[in-house]
Amino acid sequence: MTSTIALLGHPVSHSISPRFQQAALDALGIDARYEAWDTPPEDLPSALERLRSRDLLGANVTVPLKQEALRLIDRPDALAERIGAVNTIVNAGGVLEATNTDVAGVLRSLEDGGVDLAGANVVLIGAGGAARAIVVAMREGGAARVTIANRTAARARALVPLGGEDLELRVIPLDHASEQLRAAMQSARLVVQATSLGMRDGPDEDASPLPAELFHAGQAALDIVYVPEQTPFLRAARQGGALPLGGLSMLVHQGAESFRRWTGQPPPLDVMFDAARAALDETS
Ligand code: ATR
Repeated sequence: MTSTIALLGHPVSHSISPRFQQAALDALGIDARYEAWDTPPEDLPSALERLRSRDLLGANVTVPLKQEALRLIDRPDALAERIGAVNTIVNAGGVLEATNTDVAGVLRSLEDGGVDLAGANVVLIGAGGAARAIVVAMREGGAARVTIANRTAARARALVPLGGEDLELRVIPLDHASEQLRAAMQSARLVVQATSLGMRDGPDEDASPLPAELFHAGQAALDIVYVPEQTPFLRAARQGGALPLGGLSMLVHQGAESFRRWTGQPPPLDVMFDAARAALDETS
């Protein structure tokens, strides 16, 4: 019997996850199909019911369903609870277990980029769902301080409880001219762009939330946006001497961790990266 893994989101047609997940399943000879199920929020409960069938291994969950899925799932793990969102569901004999592999995706992509988070100061631009996973990843990775700058300060303040004894969270205005932002950038080993700025078909494709002059050499800059591969933020970072890290690595690593949960097998990372790059090349 061919098994199925679903991608729940709305819309999902642009996602490249089906490409690199199917490539991985095929490479390991696993008899399964990874299918995109376009799921408007009102259809989430019925989609989750379908996941309980014997031929379903599980699912990925993406925008805008990650938070609501947490509420509806049988057994979310502690990490998913802390982030307030799930991106991976495993069908354990009709019981839906869930976790969030975005944190592992962030940590692995930073490892690949040679970024040591231990004791680091980090600047985080953005305070949406993606930013929450970044904060939890910074905590797991042992960062010392995250300074959050977001257009809407109240949303940034809502992230502060995600800090803890070992991770200090501060909120500052997203204002290029502010001394606070300059000082935070000067001491930051890592800068993370977690807004939808620069995303193709997003609110502003040509905008970087930070200008080149705020970056410096010896700093890494991670963009969660992966379409296009070269975002205005990454261009500004490179111009300013920082090491630009695109979002594709994060995407593939979170998918690889999901793959491990569904199949119990080590994910074929090279195959997944090649397929993801090929899929991106076709869109550009
Ligand atoms: P996601 O789950 O992908 O993080 P989200 O929750 O909608 O999506 O968050 C989007 C992020 O992009 C937020 O930080 C948002 O800022 P606000 O909290 O002020 O809305 C940010 N964002 C979106 N459009 C923006 C713009 N034009 N300028 C600055 N920030 C923007």
